[in-house]
Amino acid sequence: MASVLIALVVAALSIKKGKASPTATPRSCVEIEVPVSIDTTAIKWLQPRVDSNIDAVDWVNYQTTRTSPNNTQSMIGQITVKETFKINGQLCAPPKGSARSEILQIATHGGGFDKRYWDAEIKPKEYSYVEAALAEGYSVFTYDRLGTGRSDKPNAYDIVQLNVQVEILRQITSLARSGKLVSASKKLSGSPDDRLAKYQPSKIVHVGHSIGSILSVGLITNYPTESDGLVATGFLHTNIPLPGLNVATWGFEFARENNPTLFKDYGSGSLVQATKSNVQVSFLKKGTFEPALLDYAWKIRQPVSVSEFLSLLTAFGKEGARFKGPVHLVIGENDYGNCGGDCNGTYDLNMIKQQIYPAAKDVAVHIQPGTGHGLTLSTNATAGYKASFDFLHKSGL
Ligand SMILES: *[C@@H]1O[C@H](CO)[C@@H](O)[C@H](O)[C@H]1NC(C)=O
Ligand SMILES: *[C@@H]1O[C@H](CO)[C@@H](O)[C@H](O)[C@H]1NC(C)=O
Ligand SMILES: *[C@@H]1O[C@H](CO)[C@@H](O)[C@H](O)[C@H]1NC(C)=O
Repeated sequence: MASVLIALVVAALSIKKGKASPTATPRSCVEIEVPVSIDTTAIKWLQPRVDSNIDAVDWVNYQTTRTSPNNTQSMIGQITVKETFKINGQLCAPPKGSARSEILQIATHGGGFDKRYWDAEIKPKEYSYVEAALAEGYSVFTYDRLGTGRSDKPNAYDIVQLNVQVEILRQITSLARSGKLVSASKKLSGSPDDRLAKYQPSKIVHVGHSIGSILSVGLITNYPTESDGLVATGFLHTNIPLPGLNVATWGFEFARENNPTLFKDYGSGSLVQATKSNVQVSFLKKGTFEPALLDYAWKIRQPVSVSEFLSLLTAFGKEGARFKGPVHLVIGENDYGNCGGDCNGTYDLNMIKQQIYPAAKDVAVHIQPGTGHGLTLSTNATAGYKASFDFLHKSGL
């Protein structure tokens, strides 16, 4: 009863503040600010500064100029990052008595969004991943990656990089595993019920989208014993040149010049897609999305940092061969950035199994038909979620 009441109060507050979803099912969630302490090194990159739209286009030109220094040549030094960041997250528990509430999914969103990517406010039953995971009986933690949403927004050149974000995901995971995720954090949305306040999962599955998948793969390839399962969506180990690394396809502008109101908290080096049509190019395929979902994607858009693009490959570690959990790689058939619009025939499952995840309990690639890179924003999204849940169930997750 108490949890239902809290869920209703949280839902009412959310509607009033107009932030979280008007959900189809009552939920028990708490919004928290997690203090995450990091001690690692980042990379000093050789790159032009971005303080205007003209600079943003110049940065893209520089990155895609035939004779510019390559990714390795652009690494010109190391930076010590020893800091505590405030990370905004939401922990939700499924209805009481759910079979899998002891299994926590930690979902990391990709570039261009924040945690709202996982929790569409439009037709949540058809699109919200959080809704689907709760209905399947899982507990779910979503958070705003460093430099997005309500999390801290440090220096976009030196700090907001992928290897730093892998360390953040690691610390969040370890706090959750020790049962201290909520007690160590500042509570933002009312008092959580006992279940949430003391929640300690027995298993943790890492779920990602795009850059969030790279970070999740980064976690299991650096710290293979710290995860029990991986669902990497909008991500594939392809054997073609990576069209997604061509930053010219995004249509970037300087965030604060593009929209001084929406992006007033973002400083030098923060990029956003200039128009709604740019978002469509990267994330959606005509015929398999409702225009309202493109509007939603545009509404919830978030900046990326210049150094996130440069540091993509620094997320991956060398310990992947020791990861023993199941690995589900999920990609839209028409993913533009990963596969140049057609993922058929771009990967070799045997190679992925033998060379990347040789110890994994199970490895599968799921191609979601007629879908672009934005899987949670496309029609038939929940059928794709179900494919991942069924895959996890086979391994007892
Ligand atoms: C970058 O250029 C250097 C020098 O030409 C070359 O040795 C290296 O293989 C290149 N690296 C990549 C990732 O292309
Ligand atoms: C990919 O392969 C499937 C199954 O063979 C086929 O139905 C689909 O049309 C192909 N997709 C593209 C974009 O060619
Ligand atoms: C919806 O997704 C499921 C799971 O991938 C797939 O089996 C089904 O064919 C898809 N339906 C359509 C109309 O694409």
